Amino acid sequence: MKDFSELISVRRSHRKFTEEAVSEDDLRLIVRAGLIAPSSKGLHACEFVVVRDGKTIGQLSRCKAQGADFVVGAPVVIAVVGLPEVSDAWIEDGSVAATMMLLQAEDLGLGACWVQIRDRKDAEGGNAEDNVRRILGLSERLRVLSIIAVGHKGMERKPFNEDRLLWDKVHVYSPLIPLDL
Ligand SMILES: Cc1cc2nc3c(=O)[nH]c(=O)nc-3n(C[C@H](O)[C@H](O)[C@H](O)COP(=O)(O)O)c2cc1C
Repeated sequence: MKDFSELISVRRSHRKFTEEAVSEDDLRLIVRAGLIAPSSKGLHACEFVVVRDGKTIGQLSRCKAQGADFVVGAPVVIAVVGLPEVSDAWIEDGSVAATMMLLQAEDLGLGACWVQIRDRKDAEGGNAEDNVRRILGLSERLRVLSIIAVGHKGMERKPFNEDRLLWDKVHVYSPLIPLDL
């Protein structure tokens, strides 16, 4: 098993998948990771919709103008939807949960990729969130943060290049030296 520091560097976004199905056990572990995720006030203001129907996945791949088309090749898509009435931190809750699911997928040797839906448009200028709500039959009360494509990796990707780490984004505060931010 990889240790955590290795896991986070080998996790890359995967957009090509084989036709092999994702097992029930693996899928359960992935959504479990989302449910375990920390959340503001412990309110867990997000829900997950697991989609395995190929036709529906095809429709989801066309829900926005760019960056979702590859989803058509994924055996599983998990929509991360937020509940603003439960917490104003639904975006953060959903984002942490999505990240945990991406890492759990990698730990299982699966590939995954986050596809942004919130505040995105389709090819005709329509709202991508409305499209996902319509495709999945979700209530207007729900916000759609992202859809996560999951599957067996169709290609290998190199780990994150440590030489490209942006260490200049890290600032060490001192009361004597003002930060240039
Ligand atoms: C908030 C967010 C939105 C993203 N939206 C998309 C998307 O719509 N389509 C896509 O193919 N990848 C999307 N990604 C994946 C990024 O493109 C990817 O994480 C980034 O290029 C770094 O590559 P890596 O994940 O392989 O390290 C998104 C990632 C994040 C965190």
